[in-house]
Amino acid sequence: MLSVQNLTKSFGEQTVLNGVSLELTSGETTVILGPSGSGKSTLLRCFNLLEVPEAGVLDLAGDSVDFSSKLTDEQVRSIRKHSAMVFQNFNLFPHLTAVQNVALAPVLNGKVGKGAAHQYALELLDKVGLGDKASSYPDSLSGGQQQRVAIARALAVSPEYLLFDEPTSALDPELEAEVIRVLIDLAREKRSLVVVTHNMAFARRVADRIIFLDGGKVLYNGAPEPFFQSTNERIARFLQIFEMTDYRI
Ligand SMILES: Nc1ncnc2c1ncn2[C@@H]1O[C@H](COP(=O)(O)OP(=O)(O)OP(=O)(O)O)[C@@H](O)[C@H]1O
Ligand SMILES: [Mg+2]
Repeated sequence: MLSVQNLTKSFGEQTVLNGVSLELTSGETTVILGPSGSGKSTLLRCFNLLEVPEAGVLDLAGDSVDFSSKLTDEQVRSIRKHSAMVFQNFNLFPHLTAVQNVALAPVLNGKVGKGAAHQYALELLDKVGLGDKASSYPDSLSGGQQQRVAIARALAVSPEYLLFDEPTSALDPELEAEVIRVLIDLAREKRSLVVVTHNMAFARRVADRIIFLDGGKVLYNGAPEPFFQSTNERIARFLQIFEMTDYRI
């Protein structure tokens, strides 16, 4: 389970998360929607402490931290081990091959030997449809392929939660579709996914839960269908932007 209570995060004078509380069930796919600047990335980054809120409580897979006191290194480590993040711009190590990118974290963690990590990395590349690209360097892969390597790399540390921040925003529609297919596979396997995206087809068809943020507050937290039929003025205005796009996945 992932839950936050009364999360508050400011940058300077600007309050970016304003008392956010929510609870995500494990095994579910949660999609976070909201306008630009509403705090989606900041919220996601709080889940793995890339951002540290000023106040509130985070419970993640049995570990709990209260942000009103300074976190110890041990607390940060214990929270971070529960999740892995996939970024918009892939962020692969350019000097490592696909399989080396995927195997790196498990080797550095020291939990498995190099051989076993390499073997598992090959299996994960196969899972994301890149079994034949293990020896390729990132700059010889398409954006969609790089992002699938990044997903395999996130899976390699066996996290309870996979966090995605606009994983397809940098991709052309065709490449977006190949990444979305991998996300759909993970959702079907009942992995716990938290996805910030503007892909409304994915949100509507795959999400178990939609969170809509506006101005650092949760305006909606629930099932997809009522969200897409919402008469809330703010949500309806947000959805209108997407009426021009079709709902193809
Ligand atoms: N490191 C930072 N320093 C200062 N301000 C920041 C920082 N990160 C985010 N912000 C500000 O916080 C607000 C929320 O940012 P955030 O990136 O969480 O929004 P978002 O919903 O992810 O937007 P987008 O859809 O554009 O990615 C924005 O006004 C942003 O400028
Ligand atoms: Mg963002």
